[in-house]
Amino acid sequence: MSLNRRISDRIEDPAEKRRYVRALFAGVAGKYDLTNDVMSFGLHRRWKTRVLELARIEAGHRVLDLAAGTGDLALAAGEIGDGSASVDVVATDLTPEMLRVGAGRAGDARLAWVAGDAASLPYPDESFDRVVIGYGLRNFANLDDCLAEILRSLRPGGRLVTLDFGHPRSELIRRGYFGYLDASTRLVGWALHRDAESYVYIPESLRRFPGQRDVVRRMEAVGYEGCGYEDLLLGTMAINFGRRPRP
Ligand SMILES: C[S@@+](CC[C@H](N)C(=O)[O-])C[C@H]1O[C@@H](n2cnc3c(N)ncnc32)[C@H](O)[C@@H]1O
Repeated sequence: MSLNRRISDRIEDPAEKRRYVRALFAGVAGKYDLTNDVMSFGLHRRWKTRVLELARIEAGHRVLDLAAGTGDLALAAGEIGDGSASVDVVATDLTPEMLRVGAGRAGDARLAWVAGDAASLPYPDESFDRVVIGYGLRNFANLDDCLAEILRSLRPGGRLVTLDFGHPRSELIRRGYFGYLDASTRLVGWALHRDAESYVYIPESLRRFPGQRDVVRRMEAVGYEGCGYEDLLLGTMAINFGRRPRP
């Protein structure tokens, strides 16, 4: 059986996907930041800046960086403030090994690092003004449940903004893109981790991910309003957004 097929089979079942994803990120945590820079040619930083712009975070807000990993968004959000008030940021992730790398990067930054699952967040209703996610949705074992759980954690009027790999509209670009991902992830996985599997997971999880247009429909279905998306790099990446309605 091919490597792609083996991975695809393992992530079909939600409970197995959760176990698989957690073990995978625990294994790559130490080199995750380097791999991110190599694979995106550093562009993920620009896209994450755009996530924070769209989130319109203000001083005094309470912000959740969900699937925070090593905390790129959490650390950047923590720097937003106007001198009189700061932003209160919590980074939450399923994989403690990823959070530990992030906490090591944080220095003096006052962030909370909390292990938790997007499907059952360890926070009361209406805890956050903003939830931001970088490359998390595609990894969630049950996307709709997680979107509903995030909505529960948002205050009325609060916004979710999430960045992930996308599905380009054009068939031609889509084929070329998956061809590129299939080849480059094997190469990078082997070069940096001596293990192709850890990054071949990216195209396989993307094949199963509904993509930016369907994420809009799913967000609307669980109760978000003002939903939309912004394509990046011809739709190979995308940012989805929406907010919790006010009563
Ligand atoms: C690709 S990394 C993204 C890390 C970081 N947000 C970034 O943008 O670089 C995906 C992260 O999602 C986390 N994750 C996967 N499923 C999760 C879940 N159900 N709840 C919380 N975090 C989850 C993984 O542990 C991993 O750290």
